[in-house]
Amino acid sequence: MKSIHLVMVVFFVTMMVTLIACSPKLYLPEQAHSAWVAETYQYTGTVDQFNHARTMYTQYCQSCHDLHMPSEYTISEWDKIYTNMSAKVAIGDSSKRMILYYILAGAKDAEINQ
Ligand code: HEC
Repeated sequence: MKSIHLVMVVFFVTMMVTLIACSPKLYLPEQAHSAWVAETYQYTGTVDQFNHARTMYTQYCQSCHDLHMPSEYTISEWDKIYTNMSAKVAIGDSSKRMILYYILAGAKDAEINQ
């Protein structure tokens, strides 16, 4: 009986470690992202501000479903999706805009990720 328990515990721990190691990571904004957004959209945001946008993204955009990675969609796909999704969250327009640019700088086809 005891050894069966041990096998189950080892199995469970292995599964958890695998799951955590394989879950995709939300990118951390760097100076290059902030520069890309400024050049592409004439929107000025510091790395700190984009880090804050990243935190808000995790807070507001996974209450109904798992968090989507910015790299899952292209810029034009995100433009459409974000218009729908941002209407579902109760935060101010300037926060919404900052989250959008955080997402776009990580989009599948953003030049910075090529
Ligand atoms: C009130 C619940 C709710 C919140 C909050 C929410 N979503 Fe969604 N989201 C949905 C539902 C429902 C769907 C699937 C159906 C649809 O597309 O409307 C979805 C689908 C998506 C998809 C997949 C779209 C596709 O076409 O495949 C993405 C990406 C997404 N959401 C991003 C976001 C982002 C970014 C935020 C934060 C701004 C957000 N969601 C907040 C309910 C929500």
